[in-house]
Amino acid sequence: MTRQQRKLEHIKYAVESNQEGWSPFDDMEIVHQSVTSLRWEDIDLHTKVGGLALSSPLFVNAMTGGGGIKTEKINAQLAAVAAETGIGMSVGSQMSALKDSTEEPSYRIVRKENPKGIIFANIGSESSVEQARRAVDMLEADALQIHLNVLQELIMPEGDRDFRQMDRRIEAIVQSIPVPVIVKEVGHGLSKETAIRLQELGVQFLDAAGMGGTNFSKVENRRRKDPLSAFNSWGIPTPASVKEIRGILPGAHLLASGGIRNGMDGAKSLILGAEAFGMAGSLLKVLMEEGMDSLSNRIASVHQELKIIMMLLECREPKQLAGKPYVVTGYLKEWFDQRAK
Ligand code: FNR
Repeated sequence: MTRQQRKLEHIKYAVESNQEGWSPFDDMEIVHQSVTSLRWEDIDLHTKVGGLALSSPLFVNAMTGGGGIKTEKINAQLAAVAAETGIGMSVGSQMSALKDSTEEPSYRIVRKENPKGIIFANIGSESSVEQARRAVDMLEADALQIHLNVLQELIMPEGDRDFRQMDRRIEAIVQSIPVPVIVKEVGHGLSKETAIRLQELGVQFLDAAGMGGTNFSKVENRRRKDPLSAFNSWGIPTPASVKEIRGILPGAHLLASGGIRNGMDGAKSLILGAEAFGMAGSLLKVLMEEGMDSLSNRIASVHQELKIIMMLLECREPKQLAGKPYVVTGYLKEWFDQRAK
């Protein structure tokens, strides 16, 4: 199987497995408040994550590129909608384009479609400093994501099996790259132990990318003849990942992603201490099944939901949501309680 075919299979299975169902965010309720002193136009979604100025805390998280004409079209459409709605966007892993320059156009199209927008480059932890630099230059990127996907590689029959020097490479990239370096998972969540380890390597930007949405164990298992199904529910639920990282690293620049379905899940992440939130699979599903206009409408709805919650909780800006009252139950409460020790 070629790399291009694999990327198309990832898209197909990720979209198919993205179903409306239970999410860890369902175990968290924001406490309703009845008195507010704001007008709708007082509510401003602009926010800053470190030096990154965002017009909204919502961004499109890393998905695709490098799979030929089809992924180029998806990236062009995602980028056009990101430009129209003013939100940030990450591309999928650029490792393939770093190895084969004929794949570059499917990434470069993102900057072409969105010349002034916030764009994140994306590489794996196997990348050298030189490759990291080229990934950023390819997009004139505002930040660089490094994805950690050890479990995905292990489930993928053709995946990597050697992760030596991963930490040293991350450290070298953070020291050498002039834009913010965001280290993210791919749907299994960052633990507080991992977050501390990354902080010791100099990483200041973390994206939880937790369990609850797109599940690469399931996606890779769909591709295996002998599925390793025991890993289908492996991972740290996104709200638990955000809460435990924020608890231990109050100064970190923290992003939330993994199973965020709407503005309410986004608001819950901000309440738990994230500064912005990414959506991947659920946006891709809308684009693939309903098209660009529906995707723009979905993003507008996410913003509207977020603004309604900010109005109710009397928050002029997204950062003011941090620490607002909530109730947590069931499975997620177990994670909160047991990981607080
Ligand atoms: C991804 N994701 C991803 N992440 C990354 O850092 N590099 C990548 O190349 C990809 N590729 C990719 C392809 C597809 C089709 C999907 C749906 C996702 C992971 C993504 O950025 C995110 O971390 C997870 O999908 C969890 O978020 P959602 O999908 O639950 O919102």
